[in-house]
Amino acid sequence: MDGTGITNALFVVALVFIVTVAAAAKVARSRTDLPPKTAAPPPPPEAKGAPLVGVFPAVLSRGLQAVIREQHRELGSVFTLRSLGLAVTFLVGPESSGHFFHAPESEIAIDDVYKVTVPIFGRGVGYDVDLDTRNEQHRFFAKTLRPAKLRRHVHPMVHEVEDFFGKWGNSGVVDLKEEVDHLLMLIASRCLLGKEVRENMFDEVSSLLHELIGGLHLVSMFFPYLPTPAHRRRDRARARLEEIFSEIAGARRGSGRVEDDMLQELMDSRYGDGRATTGAEVTGMLVALLFAGQHTSSTVTVWTALRLLTHPTHLHTAMAEQEEWLVGKEEQIDYDVLQQMGFLHRCIKEAMRLHPVTQMILRRARRGFAVRAKEGGEYSVPAGRLLASPLVVNNLLPYVYKDPHVFDPDRFAAGRAEDKGGAGAGDLAYVAFGAGKHACMGEGYAYQQIKVILSHLLRKFELKLESPFPEPENMLSMRPRGEVMVSYRRSE
Ligand code: HEM
Repeated sequence: MDGTGITNALFVVALVFIVTVAAAAKVARSRTDLPPKTAAPPPPPEAKGAPLVGVFPAVLSRGLQAVIREQHRELGSVFTLRSLGLAVTFLVGPESSGHFFHAPESEIAIDDVYKVTVPIFGRGVGYDVDLDTRNEQHRFFAKTLRPAKLRRHVHPMVHEVEDFFGKWGNSGVVDLKEEVDHLLMLIASRCLLGKEVRENMFDEVSSLLHELIGGLHLVSMFFPYLPTPAHRRRDRARARLEEIFSEIAGARRGSGRVEDDMLQELMDSRYGDGRATTGAEVTGMLVALLFAGQHTSSTVTVWTALRLLTHPTHLHTAMAEQEEWLVGKEEQIDYDVLQQMGFLHRCIKEAMRLHPVTQMILRRARRGFAVRAKEGGEYSVPAGRLLASPLVVNNLLPYVYKDPHVFDPDRFAAGRAEDKGGAGAGDLAYVAFGAGKHACMGEGYAYQQIKVILSHLLRKFELKLESPFPEPENMLSMRPRGEVMVSYRRSE
C-alpha cells in the first residue's frame, strides 16, 4: 500500500467537497423538517458568492482553508458556505461544537459521510449495517484497542522497528514518507493482520490492499458499483482478502492456536446474542482499522519528524528525554517507558495541531437545531444541512492557543494546558482525534507506534532535512507534499 494510494483514498473525511456533493440529494430531501418559523432564530450568516457557483471560484483560486479562515474572520464562529446548490454550515471552536460532537445519532448523523466506504470494507460491517450492529462492532474495536491489549503490541512494534532500521546503512538519504509508510504497514501486518500475513503473505496482502484502496475514485462517490476496471479490481481484492482471513481464522480454530493480534480479538468477538463474527465481518473490520490508522499515523509521524528537524531546541530536548529514559538502561522499551516520554508525546500532539490529518470533520443534521456562536448570536440550522467542524481553524484559534502558528510542544504541559481551552471548553478545544461518540478509538495505538518509531530514530540516528519544508499535499490531503528527503548517519 503506497503513500499515493493511501493519500487518494484512506481517510474519507478528507474528501470534503466530494462527499458534500454526494450528500446533496439527502440534504434537499430533508429540508422540510424545519422548526416552526415563529420560534426559530435566524439562519447562520452566509458567505457572499456568485449566483449558483457560490464560493466555488474563491475555493479554486485561494484554496479551501483560506476561504474558511476568511469567512470565520468576517462572519464569526457559525456561518454557511454555499456552492453549486449545496450548503455547508461551519461550526468553529469549542463554544459552537457541543451539539455537533455530542448529540445522539438521531440528531446528528455520520452515515452519509462514510457511506462511501461500504464497497471497500464490504457488506455487513461499518456503514452498511444498522446502528445497533455498528455499535456492537465498535465495541469490538474498543476492546481490541484498550490499554491492556496495547501493552502486548509494544514488543512486536519494537521488533519491527529495529529490524527495519537495522537494514539502513551507516549513512544515506531516504524519502522519510515512503520509509514510514512501509514500516507502518509491516507493523500493521504483525499487530493487526497476524503473523501468517507478516511471514508468508506480506506482499500479496499489501498489493490487495492497494487494489482495494485504488478502487475509490470520484466516480465511486456517485456510482460505487459501476463496473469500471478499478471497481472490478477492488471487488476481486476484497473477495481474495476475505478468503485469506477466513482461511487463517479457520486454521487457527482448527488447530486451537491463539495469537496475540487484533485478528484474533475480532475472530473471538461475540455479538450480544452470542453470534460469532463471520470471515466477511472480520475482514471488513480489519480493513476499516487499516483505513483509519495507517495513513493518519504515517502523516503524523512525518510531520512530527519535520517539525523536530527544523526546531533544534526541541530536537535537543526530545533527545535528552530519550537519554533519560533509555540510554544506558539496556534500552528496554515497554508500555510504561513509552508513557513516560512526555515531551515526545507533546511534540506529536503539537504536530497534529499544526497539521491535522483532515481539514474538517463532517456530519449531517438529521433534525434542525439552534446554535449559539461565540460572538453571542443564536442561529437555527435546518434539518438536512451538512455540518463541518474545521480542524484547520479550530487548531489555530488565538484565544485557545497562544501564538498559534508557533510549534510549541510545551503549550500542553501541566500549568499551561492550552488544549483544555479554559472554562466551558470541555473536551472540544483539541479535536485532532475527534470528540464525543465518534472520537478516535485508536489514539493510544497511534501514539504508541509513532513513539516507538521516533524514539528509535532519535536514539540511533543523526538526521537532517534535505528537501524544503513541505506544504500540505492539496486541498483534500493534509499529507506533506512531495518527497521528504532526509539524510541520516548512525550515531553509534
Ligand atoms: C495519529 C493518528 C490518528 C489520527 C489523527 C486519527 C484521527 C481520527 C479522527 C479525527 C476520528 C474521528 C472521525 C470523525 O469524527 O468523523 C477518528 C476516528 C476513528 N479512528 Fe482514528 N486516528 C488516528 C489513528 C487511528 C488508529 C491507529 C486507529 C486504529 C488502529 C484508529 C481508529 C479509529 C476508529 C475505529 C475511528 C472511528 C470511531 C467512531 O466512529 O466511533 N485511528 N480518528
